[in-house]
Amino acid sequence: MKEKKTITLEDVKSNEEFKTLIETANNNLEVMGYTEHGLRHVGYVSKTTANILRELGYDARTVELGAIAGWIHDIGNAVNRKNHGHTGAIMAFDVLSRMEMDISEIAPIIGAIGNHEEETGLPVNAISAALIIADKSDAHRSRVRKKNFDIGDIHDRVNLAIKKNYIAIDTDKKKIRLVIFMGHTSATMEYLQIYLTRVVLCEKAASFLGCTFELVINNAIINRQKSITPKVKLSGNEKEVSED
Ligand SMILES: [Fe+2]
Ligand SMILES: [Fe+2]
Repeated sequence: MKEKKTITLEDVKSNEEFKTLIETANNNLEVMGYTEHGLRHVGYVSKTTANILRELGYDARTVELGAIAGWIHDIGNAVNRKNHGHTGAIMAFDVLSRMEMDISEIAPIIGAIGNHEEETGLPVNAISAALIIADKSDAHRSRVRKKNFDIGDIHDRVNLAIKKNYIAIDTDKKKIRLVIFMGHTSATMEYLQIYLTRVVLCEKAASFLGCTFELVINNAIINRQKSITPKVKLSGNEKEVSED
């Protein structure tokens, strides 16, 4: 049997087919009025997925596969927003197969891509769980597109309000926290109106990784799972892992 190649994140980033698919997906979503899904978003998700896995002690290759999955997780939007996780997984299978990645490495990546959306997704492996948390944590004012900004649109309002957000992991307490600071163009209630199912999926993903998930908005813990004392500043054992 032919020897398969070790495909790196750099190989995937420089692949022309993936480049075009990421660009097309982002353009399609812009036309439909969605927030930014381009290189900034996939870069954030790629780095943050890898950082979560690294911080939780996964081996270097799993960390790299997480970074690859994060980079290509939204390519299905080149076809259609609906079911873009499913479509994107099949597209990624095709391109990665032609790049001669080993099927044992393609399999967890397509599982992660195919399960990253809250409508049908569930954490099915560690890469999938980390990718869900990384992707769902990327709500921020920098994702609002100035060109078609609409204050009457709840997604634009909520995203514009988010001035700062980060994911932090306390490996001792096995806790993953999403910390958000919102201004006055929106409110916690609106955030939950549109992102509640994503928060629930993050709880499931953190649980898959052996952790609890805590959402903190403007210093208030929204979904207390275990901890009693709110700690909004990073504690000694806690490390920020989200990365722009
Ligand atoms: Fe997506
Ligand atoms: Fe995404």
